[in-house]
Amino acid sequence: MTANDAPRGKQPTATYDSAFLKACRREPVPHTPVWFMRQAGRSLPEYRKVREGIPMLESCTRPELVTEITLQPVRRHGVDAAIYYSDIVVPLKAIGLDLDIKPGVGPVVEQPIRTRADLARLRDLTPEDVGYVTEAIGMLTRELGPVPLIGFAGAPFTLASYLVEGGPSRTYENAKAMMYGDPELWADLLDRLSGITAAFLKVQIEAGASAVQLFDSWAGALAPADYRRSVLPASAKVFDAVAHYGVPRLHFGVGTGELLGLMGEAGADVVGVDWRVPLDEAVRRVGPGKALQGNLDPTVLFAGKDAVEAKAQEVLDAAAGLEGHVFNLGHGVMPGTDPDALTRLAEYVHGASAR
Ligand code: CP3
Repeated sequence: MTANDAPRGKQPTATYDSAFLKACRREPVPHTPVWFMRQAGRSLPEYRKVREGIPMLESCTRPELVTEITLQPVRRHGVDAAIYYSDIVVPLKAIGLDLDIKPGVGPVVEQPIRTRADLARLRDLTPEDVGYVTEAIGMLTRELGPVPLIGFAGAPFTLASYLVEGGPSRTYENAKAMMYGDPELWADLLDRLSGITAAFLKVQIEAGASAVQLFDSWAGALAPADYRRSVLPASAKVFDAVAHYGVPRLHFGVGTGELLGLMGEAGADVVGVDWRVPLDEAVRRVGPGKALQGNLDPTVLFAGKDAVEAKAQEVLDAAAGLEGHVFNLGHGVMPGTDPDALTRLAEYVHGASAR
């Protein structure tokens, strides 16, 4: 099933008819919908305030706090979608892996996964492992009214990059060494991660998420042939596992210009594009039948209002011939971004695209 013949399910009509979900389904929209990756978080003073003294991963297990943090950017910026406040490593923590998010560093894994014996530490995820997600999404969908909630998860490759390296990396040499040197172990690792990721997305959809985004943030490190052979099958398995829900499936990575076609092929309804490839070129690479999301360079927000508007207009112009366009940044909001610049950008996109 594709997002276009989706059952409406329990979703309120106003949510189903929102500009964001319509654009994902490539239906006509009253204005180009806009949301920002990492719209919740350190760019917002109200976020820094409620997070004071609470470690990142602990904050993800408190439903009231998750609800408040998810709503903050919706209230402030008037964006067309909320993204569930969590992190890509939350399901891995939930199955008992010893990992943490170190401020200014990122996810750090105490004992990296490097051998076949290590795989045993990756057990399946059950809904009971993440009861706080079900609870938080129940609260959120009540509070959000018609605004759709995007659920998300890390894609198998990006999760594997943290698990095998033990933390953030620029070169992914340990992960790639496993991929090239022990393809069977690599395939088994990615297959396990696809099961965990699919289970985590199912929990979010069943609790009320209206769309899901798979973040394969670091897939851009791979050559297309390696992506196709060693990564695409695991991501495709995730998309297949949630296809029957009929909610739009978004697929995003950074530096993935050469992979855009394959990322669509993996099973996405919407392909996310970073700022390196203009959307009129991206649509040729992705091919027909998919919407695109993106792709303003997040550093543009550090320039003045006129520069932001000129660059946002370039994105809208490049998207003019698309069947479906969701405006976003080409990667997440940077922590030092002026939140007022984001509010003005959302207003500009709405005004300039009104039809
Ligand atoms: O608003 C949203 O987008 C929802 C929240 C969200 C977070 N992480 C919260 C978070 C989302 C969608 C993510 C996904 C995520 N996490 C990705 C994929 C998206 C991307 O940026 O490519 C990745 C690679 C991670 C791993 C991760 N978590 C990193 C690299 C970091 C930054 C570390 C640092 O401190 O610089 C985190 C921490 C993190 N995740 C924060 C937030 C709000 C900051 C932690 C804090 O506030 O202390």
